[in-house]
Amino acid sequence: MNYNNAYTILKEHGQLHVLAHFDSLDESEQAHLLSQIAGIDWHIIDSVSHRQEITKRGSLAPLDAIETDEIEKKHSLFQELGLDAIRKQQIGAVLLAGGQGTRLGLDKPKGMLNVGLTKELYLFEMLIRNLQKNTDAAGAFVPLYIMTSDKNHDDTAAFFKEHNYFGYPKDYISFFIQEMVPCTDFNGKLLMESPSSLCMSPNGNGGWYTSMHNCGILEDVRRRGLKWLNVFSVDNVLQQIADPVFIGATIDSGCVCGAKVVRKAAPDERVGVLCLEDGRPSIVEYYEMTEEMATLRKPNGDLTYNFGVTLNYLFTVDTLEQMLGANMPLHIVEKKIPYMDASGNLIHPDKPNGYKFETLVLDMVHMSKDCIPCEIIREKEFAPIKNATGVDSLESARELMKKNGIEL
Ligand code: UTP
Repeated sequence: MNYNNAYTILKEHGQLHVLAHFDSLDESEQAHLLSQIAGIDWHIIDSVSHRQEITKRGSLAPLDAIETDEIEKKHSLFQELGLDAIRKQQIGAVLLAGGQGTRLGLDKPKGMLNVGLTKELYLFEMLIRNLQKNTDAAGAFVPLYIMTSDKNHDDTAAFFKEHNYFGYPKDYISFFIQEMVPCTDFNGKLLMESPSSLCMSPNGNGGWYTSMHNCGILEDVRRRGLKWLNVFSVDNVLQQIADPVFIGATIDSGCVCGAKVVRKAAPDERVGVLCLEDGRPSIVEYYEMTEEMATLRKPNGDLTYNFGVTLNYLFTVDTLEQMLGANMPLHIVEKKIPYMDASGNLIHPDKPNGYKFETLVLDMVHMSKDCIPCEIIREKEFAPIKNATGVDSLESARELMKKNGIEL
């Protein structure tokens, strides 16, 4: 793309301010800015003007989960099915570690957080340990694909290398980088990070399979003949990865997708609930639920919409393949975005000042034809670290880790 092309496109979209400092840039800076402009998906940026339409919901209905008592009864059947699938090399795992962890306010990848008190014990280390517990039981390794972003890739890859992959075989670990999208202010104007660069941010956690495709890493999935991918977040320090019981329960259900879910602690708990939307599995956010829905109860007294998602899912590779190329819903999220003001100063806002554009893994659940929610015991398996203090923080996660006998 040359200056004239960029000018025409930006003018058409009301974004000419992007070129305000162009003449003062050196050749490589100009080339950088032009390549960023060439890469803009205008469909995404222009969606700001009709953002209300995008968030409309279909008709919602409850979806039954396999609850812990049933899982207990069928434990050995599920476990054997799962272990068998791991041994047959049908299972892969995908760690979503491209996020920026803004709520936690770290200046390094979240997985590098030291959760130990008297010794070093990193979040990444705990996740590998949790995975290895299951691969040891199966006597076979599970390939682990780690998604990073431009912002944290080098640190993440170097950290794993420095720690010798926390004892997991290096040949079973690969990294891939997710795509970035520009950010805008509340009027849809592109924000600049510097005279030669747009503010860019990772495109959400819903693009992971497409990014695997774009990076060529799906070749590895296909070569190994994997049938299922277990995708999980970086921040739940207690989660089971490649959990044979979960794998077995999902296989046994005949569904193409499985979700580890927790029983809600209270009707108004701030957690996305797995249910049906227009007959397909779907996750409804706590703020999208009416009070009536949130407090509705079954004859046995349990909440009707009772199970929150934990960002730990299994998908068949066949289902994921069908999603490639499909248009995923876009989530326009208000965030604090550091930007360059009109006088060229870099501003770090203390409240949200613009939009980031994300696709979300929960929409992949909705794109699947069915999904089985599998209940996990919150105290044993759900300790997400999202916030600096209070609910879902390092402090609350440490408490749960101690209760589970983990030496900190
Ligand atoms: P969160 O929704 O908690 O986002 O991500 P975040 O970026 O980590 O944290 P905040 O909201 O800025 O505080 C849930 C999971 O999805 C991954 C995260 O790394 C985490 O494992 N994720 C999120 C990505 O991999 N890429 C993204 O673009 C966003």
